Amino acid sequence: MNISFQDKVLLITGATSGIGEALAAAAVRLGGRVMLTGRNSEKLAELQESLSPAPDSLAILAGDLADDAFRVRLVAETVERFGGLDVLVNNAGIIHSDTVAALDMAAYERVMNLNLGAVVHLSHLAVPHLEARKGNIVNVSSVAGTRAFPGILSYCISKAGTDQFTRCAALELAAQGIRVNAVNPGVVETRLHLNSGMEPAAYRNFLERSKQTHPIGRVGRPEEIADLILFLASDAAGWITGGCYAIDGGRAETCAR
Ligand SMILES: NC(=O)c1ccc[n+]([C@@H]2O[C@H](COP(=O)([O-])OP(=O)(O)OC[C@H]3O[C@@H](n4cnc5c(N)ncnc54)[C@H](OP(=O)(O)O)[C@@H]3O)[C@@H](O)[C@H]2O)c1
Repeated sequence: MNISFQDKVLLITGATSGIGEALAAAAVRLGGRVMLTGRNSEKLAELQESLSPAPDSLAILAGDLADDAFRVRLVAETVERFGGLDVLVNNAGIIHSDTVAALDMAAYERVMNLNLGAVVHLSHLAVPHLEARKGNIVNVSSVAGTRAFPGILSYCISKAGTDQFTRCAALELAAQGIRVNAVNPGVVETRLHLNSGMEPAAYRNFLERSKQTHPIGRVGRPEEIADLILFLASDAAGWITGGCYAIDGGRAETCAR
């Protein structure tokens, strides 16, 4: 099986770090014309330099996806720059520690607005462009979308919403020739937890413990998640829609005992 994104336009959110950064590199390698976004403009400029894309095949736009107006601008500038859109990867996300008993509604709304609101809104904005090219959407969800974990309440809800959005959108958009899928990773070593305020020592312990909580005995690598996203986004997956695919070393199959 040969996967190529030659002449395909991909919009990748959360491209400045972790899974999105690995995805950006792979998409460029496979010949895609790619728009990368995140808030960190220095990192975007560094990626533009280091990925050494073919001429005119990589664009960057820095901005905050919590902002509705930036979402509108992002889709519009992608289409203007490349003349269309084939693949939207909704990857940007944040995690936050909260429980039903200890809840900060402002933080809850921040998580929901980015992890779910931006996914729904960007997908909405992309529909006419994806329809024109029979394109597709891949959402980066989590094992926390399919299984309950204590202590990350808003994150779990946002990812469960992403999974249900994936199924609803897949049904609604199938007749327009647009596919919609999601990936549900287990723990992957990225900046996600550190950016949420987890201390480096606690994060090292968490990664160590994850060897036990993931049956395969290790955490995931960003490149592994990128490969599944790109398979789902490719023509090779032309009959796949509405799926939420676990990529988690068996994490979702475990039960506490
Ligand atoms: N790592 C894991 O264990 C794991 C497991 C399951 C699912 N996931 C999911 O994988 C996706 C990628 O996360 P990651 O692990 O690669 O984390 P990461 O290294 O922290 O990357 C997160 C990305 O999201 C972007 N982002 C965060 N807030 C943003 C905002 N307000 N506006 C625009 N962009 C924003 C960040 O860019 P800037 O900082 O430049 O804005 C960064 O590029 C997330 O949806 C996450 O929930 C991760």
